Parts: sequence; structure tokens; C-alpha cells
Amino acid sequence: MPSSRITGSGSALPKRVVTNAEMATMVDTSDEWIVERTGIRQRYIAGEGETTSTLAIEAARNALDDAGLTSADIDLIVLATATPDNTFPATATKVQHALGCHGGIAFDVAAVCSGFLYALTTADSLLTTGMAKRALVIGAETFSRILDWEDRTTCVLFGDGAGAIVLESPDVSNPAQEGGPGVLASRLHADGAQHDLLYVDGGPSTTQTVGHLRMRGPEVFKHAVVNLASVLHEVIEDAGISSDQIDWIVPHQANKRILDATARKLKIGPERVVVTVDQHANTSAASVPLAFDTARKDGRIKPGDLVMMEAMGGGFTWGASLIRM
Ligand code: ACO
Repeated sequence: MPSSRITGSGSALPKRVVTNAEMATMVDTSDEWIVERTGIRQRYIAGEGETTSTLAIEAARNALDDAGLTSADIDLIVLATATPDNTFPATATKVQHALGCHGGIAFDVAAVCSGFLYALTTADSLLTTGMAKRALVIGAETFSRILDWEDRTTCVLFGDGAGAIVLESPDVSNPAQEGGPGVLASRLHADGAQHDLLYVDGGPSTTQTVGHLRMRGPEVFKHAVVNLASVLHEVIEDAGISSDQIDWIVPHQANKRILDATARKLKIGPERVVVTVDQHANTSAASVPLAFDTARKDGRIKPGDLVMMEAMGGGFTWGASLIRM
């Protein structure tokens, strides 16, 4: 089956950096605790005028420039977020209007931290079945707006940001060829029975409020390591490769200890894992494309590389995609 390929990437971060030292002035925590338990050293927090859509638009423009395309080339926008500008319409339609894309398809995907994997897989399906030719796949979040800033067990973990890729249908990019670039295999999963381990305690149809993020961190941690290892093995098997052929793992950046444990289970050395959690903290759906763009722009991820993206988040939802660059 011909597959769509990534031809550009971009990202965006809010202006304000908040260090662990600054967090320690807000809640009873310390730089030592946060670094030791999570690997996080700082996060970016959206200020006045910065929203999920403004970050998404900046990331999307950077991705278009990188791909050498204009907004007129885009006929599909899939935006993953759990923190939309408004309950409706979809933030993707705001991005579409701001970029000047006319017609085409634009919608949001809600799968929290694995939202980007859900968005990528959905866009890939629409492109390979001929529904669209060129897609912007975006992960964008302002989790700072749903945090309980008095709850030290959650507020130190998250940050804001956006990442985007341009994904092109096999019809418009070079014809698919053996060993050529493209999305090689993807798997998605969900388990609604785990709702209470990670959720937001508000919403339009229940409390008519936005609500705050609630998480039972240690339980989420245990599920994350098991679920991620399992979905990674599925994708490796589907693609018919072995884990030592993977050049880079681009994981969801929730916690450095989860990244290390997952890589160990796959017998992949830490030098092949892209880590940005120290700089960005957990930016939910934005974390995978932000990390991917960082490693592409600094020259680590190169054409021809085999890249595994993976994430797990509220729902629970989880998934992974193997991509040849
Ligand atoms: N500063 C200082 N102490 C703290 C802090 C803090 N910020 N937060 C908690 N503590 C204390 C706790 O109260 C506890 O104290 P006690 O022993 O006196 O009761 C102690 O530190 C240990 O707390 P734990 O929660 O057991 O710490 P743990 O090592 O499990 O780390 C963490 C917590 C970082 C949340 C970890 O469990 C984790 O990363 N979980 C996974 C999160 C994740 O992967 N999320 C993914 C999806 S996110 C999404 O979808 C939106």
C-alpha cells in the first residue's frame, strides 16, 4: 500500500520560560524533586494573546516554509488538542482561516497526549485513500490553562507549545518505492476503563466549566510503560523490522523515566531517543511533533532514517507510527 510521507516540520513555543526554581515559588516543590522524578528543568507557559490556535498557526507556517509549500497547497488540516480555543468550532478551522487555506477538510482530534499519533494516522488514511493530497498535521496545546496551579503533583509537569508536519499523499510526492520514505506502519489503542486515572474534572455537558487536570501519576506511569512497549512491538512486527534498525525514537515527552524504561524494553540505547522533556515538559499532543521538529532541525533526524513516534495519554489512548524519512 503506498504511504504518505513527511515533507516538512515546524514548531512554536510561548515567549515565557518558567524554570523549576520559579515553580518552587508557587508550590511546595524543588528543582531537585522535579529533575529527579521527571527530568523536567523548565517549561514554556502561554501569556496574554497566546492561545492554542496562535501557537498552531506559527508551527504550521514554519512547517509550510520548511516543505517549500504555501497555504494554497493544503487541503487537509488535522489538529490534535485537548485545549481548544473554544468548545467549537474546531481550532483546526481557525488555523485554516488564518493560513488562508480555502475549502478542503479541517477538524480537531481529541486523544490528549497521544492526539498527534491519532491525527497522523487519520491524515495518513485520508491521504492514501485519495480524500486529500497535502495535509498539515498539528499538535497544539495550552495545558497551563487547565492546570490546578495549587496542585504540586500535576502543575510542575506540563507546558504549552505546538508542533506541525506536512504530510503528502503518494500521488503528489515521489512514487512509493521499496525502502523509500513514508509512513510504514501505525497502531492505535484506547481503554476507556482507565478514565479516572487521568482526566479533566469539567466540561460543557457536565459542569459547564473548563475544569482542571487530575492525574494519579504513579498508576499512569505503570500503564504507560506496559502499553507503550506493547504497541511498539506491534508496529515493529507489522513493519517486519527489528528494533535495532530504528534510528530514532521520538516519544511523547511525559517523564524521562518513562522514556528510559520504554527504550530499555526495546533494547534501544538512550543515544537513539529524542529527549526534549527537560526543555518543554509535557506539552501533551504537541510533544511528539515538537521533539520531532527539534531533532530534524538540529540535524539528528536525516533523510532515510527510520523514526518511531509513540505516545500514551488520557483515556487511556496510546499509539505508535514507524516512518521512513
Ligand atoms: N514536589 C515535591 N514533592 C512532590 C511533588 C512535587 N511537585 N509532587 C508529589 N510530591 C511528593 C508526593 O506527595 C509524595 O510524597 P509522600 O511520599 O510524602 O506521599 C512523593 O513526592 C512521591 O510522589 P509520587 O507521586 O509517588 O512520585 P512519583 O515518583 O510517582 O512521580 C510523577 C510522580 C512524576 C507524576 C510520575 O508518577 C509520572 O510521571 N507519572 C506519569 C505521568 C504521565 O506519563 N502522564 C502521561 C500522560 S499525560 C496526559 O495524557 C495529559
